[in-house]
Amino acid sequence: MAGLVHSIAVAGFDDWRAAARGLIVRRVPPESVQWSAPGGGGDLFGAVAGPAPVPGTAAQPASPAIPRAAVGVAAASVSAASLGSAASVAPAMPAASAMRIPRELMALLQGAACYRAEDRWAFLYKILWRWQQGQREVMSMADEDGNRLHGMVRAVRREEHDMHAYLRFRERPAGEGAPRFVAWFEPAHDVLPQVAQHFAARMGRATWLIATPEATVLWDGAALHATGPLARGPADIEDAGEALWLTYYRSIFNPARLNPDVMHSHVRSRFWKHMPEAALVPEMVSQAAAGARRVGQASAVGRRSGTTIPIAPEKAQPERQQPHTLDECRRCELWQHATQAVPGEGARKARIMLVGEQPGDQEDLQGHPFVGPAGALLDRALAQAGVDRATVYVTNAVKHFKWEPRGKRRLHKTPAQKEILACHYWLEGELEQVAPQVVVALGSTALKAILEDSHAALKDYMEQPVQHAGRWVVATYHPAYVLRVPGADEKSRALAAMVAALRKAREIIDAQQRTGR
Ligand code: URA
Repeated sequence: MAGLVHSIAVAGFDDWRAAARGLIVRRVPPESVQWSAPGGGGDLFGAVAGPAPVPGTAAQPASPAIPRAAVGVAAASVSAASLGSAASVAPAMPAASAMRIPRELMALLQGAACYRAEDRWAFLYKILWRWQQGQREVMSMADEDGNRLHGMVRAVRREEHDMHAYLRFRERPAGEGAPRFVAWFEPAHDVLPQVAQHFAARMGRATWLIATPEATVLWDGAALHATGPLARGPADIEDAGEALWLTYYRSIFNPARLNPDVMHSHVRSRFWKHMPEAALVPEMVSQAAAGARRVGQASAVGRRSGTTIPIAPEKAQPERQQPHTLDECRRCELWQHATQAVPGEGARKARIMLVGEQPGDQEDLQGHPFVGPAGALLDRALAQAGVDRATVYVTNAVKHFKWEPRGKRRLHKTPAQKEILACHYWLEGELEQVAPQVVVALGSTALKAILEDSHAALKDYMEQPVQHAGRWVVATYHPAYVLRVPGADEKSRALAAMVAALRKAREIIDAQQRTGR
């Protein structure tokens, strides 16, 4: 079969699955197939067959099917279904139905099918092909393709979550046959079908419509109906419910607690435009900056019954300027108990940046990163990996030592997420200035800070580098873990993993140097 190029247009996951089965039984390798989607984006509602069973999520309750006929898909140049038909199966090969795909793999493929990428169908076929060739590692995050597959599924799951959280229905005036609630959203991936199922299961018989740039779905109280995009967004819909919500939001807004950085880090900026309350925020932020904060509460809150405690302007919390130097940093409370802030140090344009958790006791006293026992172990691992410490940049996710007293000793305490978040300001600055090609995360805190993902788990990223924000991220154990892990075998296994990760970082930059990048 190699040599002949099969050009296949698929409208969605079901089509892709039918075509892929046919190709697999005919042993057509991935490089002999050209996949395309009608109209570029393809059939949104064909991208998943019902709610995508993303691994690790509970099954959705039974919910109404979206009639695919309503979608209007362009005809495929080669019918995907015909490729999967019995007639096209070579007699010597096992029947297509005999191909057994584990449920876990099918769930991953189905989840990843919602990820918008030009090569999504080709990539999914490559995964299926490799699995069929006996390469079971393709499902593992340690495999390059497996890692991408899991990453796609994670991104889709996150988009679904964000759409549940930040979609805002606006109530329309009652009208003959018109839906009662309307929402506009611009999802980054094809998650509308699952999200529609989610709201259908939760909003009872209230009718609603969700419009996106790619498709629209209507719930008529009993069934979902999908159509193409609306001619225009529903921005001009009169909205009594929205006015009520905005009044409420204004009244609960407390400028004394205002922290725009946290607001923006919790709700990513592309969602703000979907939320009516977001329009109020800039005005309220500027009011707060102009002095509303000095009375501790917005006037609407102050008018509520109870005791209002006015604060004299000179005693009010000062405006928080961004600190100019690390020494001045008061972005969190850790500075109060530390001897000094410990900045990163090393080669100014290092190709490799090592990120630890936070300074330890010795680092806090000396003002330099990784100079205590963990530093000595790191030096040993670097030497074994053939990486010269003078060529790298070494820093920490958090720049002040967090500790608790234990007798006469200061015992390390893991930084809280809010401290990692507050200190990200400095890490970002270092990443920008040093511009490394590879960032090595030493331990879980560093990984969370680098990926800006408080749920990132070290075990998911060990051994397999991932790309993030235009650079490679290699994750490994923290040197302190290697020092304290019990048992000689376990210790040398952990050290070997660290050395392998550092060597991997070196290999990546060597390869990039060779190819002139
Ligand atoms: N542990 C860290 O994470 N960083 C240091 O600088 C020292 C110990």
